[in-house]
Amino acid sequence: MNGLLSLVQTYAADASHGWDARTLIYRLALLAASFLFLLGLRGLSNPETARRGMTQAAVGMLLGVLGTLVQRDIVHYHWIIGGLVLGTIIGAPMGLWIPMTKMPERIALSHAFGGLAVALVGVAEYLHRGAQLSSFSIGAVTFEVLMGSITFTGSLMAFGKLQGFLPGKPTTFPGQNALNFIFLSGCLAGLVGLIVKPELAPLFYGLVAAGTLLGILLVLPIGGADMPVVICLLNSYAGLAAAASGFALDNNVLIICGALDGGSGFILAMIMSKAMNRSFSNVLFGAFGSDATALAAGPDKGGNVREGTIEDAAELLKIASSVIIVPGYGMAVGQAQHATRDLANALAANGTRVKYAIHPVAGRMPGHMNVLLAEANVSYDQLFELEAINDEFPQTDVSIVVGANDVVNPAAKTAPGSPIFGMPILNVDQSKAVIVLKRSMGKGFAGIENELFVLPQTMMVFGDAKVTLGRITQTMKGGGH
Ligand code: TAP
Repeated sequence: MNGLLSLVQTYAADASHGWDARTLIYRLALLAASFLFLLGLRGLSNPETARRGMTQAAVGMLLGVLGTLVQRDIVHYHWIIGGLVLGTIIGAPMGLWIPMTKMPERIALSHAFGGLAVALVGVAEYLHRGAQLSSFSIGAVTFEVLMGSITFTGSLMAFGKLQGFLPGKPTTFPGQNALNFIFLSGCLAGLVGLIVKPELAPLFYGLVAAGTLLGILLVLPIGGADMPVVICLLNSYAGLAAAASGFALDNNVLIICGALDGGSGFILAMIMSKAMNRSFSNVLFGAFGSDATALAAGPDKGGNVREGTIEDAAELLKIASSVIIVPGYGMAVGQAQHATRDLANALAANGTRVKYAIHPVAGRMPGHMNVLLAEANVSYDQLFELEAINDEFPQTDVSIVVGANDVVNPAAKTAPGSPIFGMPILNVDQSKAVIVLKRSMGKGFAGIENELFVLPQTMMVFGDAKVTLGRITQTMKGGGH
């Protein structure tokens, strides 16, 4: 809000000096864009308004771009048009064709492009004004370029680890954290050096190279498993870089937008670490996912698995008066959200009360389950967050676990040596009966056994979730399979 106020004040002050039409349009467009970004972020705080929030933010971005294009500083447009065409050629297929399960990889790539763009803007600014930059501006430009290059290579590393181009396991070596610390301190010393002597071009370009290397070094020791948290953190770096670029270019919308991005990315990274029961420093320096920590899960417990058929599951569900559906990463992999909704509808038609229990880190990205279920037109009022539903499991007749594993693993409550110990989980083990839909006894993201699968009230129905759900629904409706 303060940023908006200052923007209005700037507008009022400058208007009195008399602007030409172009400047007026530019200023107004940026003012409207800033306002729409704030509205958009507010909308995203609730699933009901999230779609509208996205549209508001997108319109804001369009206004920002159009407003910038009428600026009188622009001498000619051919480079901008070339950039627009290239961006559309890369961006449109990414948006249209990359599947939901690959969203973390797509976001990592987008951040890499964002970081690169910000770093290049900073380099251009230095080339353009160089030694004439004020101490404040050179500080902002150098910070922008440093953060932009860290975000660029760090995000590419995250993409490579998630996609399997690079080893997902943490790559560590003795003295690594000390080396990173020395490197980071060197970069900060360089930044101060440039504030004192902006004309030191080799130092500036040395810092560009150092930032690029630092992005690689910082992500190297972090396991592929923690990449979504890292991506959120890099998102916040990109936001800070954009805010710095706003100071350097005297562009308020960049400052507002960058601060929003930087702040929200950081808060999201913290929320995700908490929901995964990881301390923030442990994510950044702990090498989670290495052999050493995986072993801490302890030996497999064994136990008798009770396997059920489609008919067994359908019979159990027909007589249930309350059912909680617990979706997990397997629902996303199997694209089983529509089949899940169909079963829920069949249950409701049978007079059963149906709710969905959503764990904050089910799947592989924040809100993963909400997005998939929204795509299948599941009404928001059927979705319940962990805190809102956890006490209902003991009174629930049947819980159906659709491709979830870690988020329903009682080891989080009972096994102190387990990597998920302390993580809040959905209390599925307390319901009267449990049906687990997965393809095998395969482990989840944390790579550990799940005691839920061998509890006496649990029935495992093996197979791809989408196929199994379709068959159960058909059988319930009396159509056989
Ligand atoms: P997971 O623990 O990853 O388990 C998913 C299960 O789905 C697997 O055990 C797999 O078993 C099953 N599966 C895979 N494909 C399937 C298919 N086609 N049909 C049926 N089942 C299928 O998932 P979760 O319970 O959602 O937990 C999420 C984990 O990811 C947590 O550990 C969390 O900390 C971590 N994580 C989450 C996030 C965010 S922000 N959501 C970010 C980073 C990490 P089978 O192979 O036997 O089928």
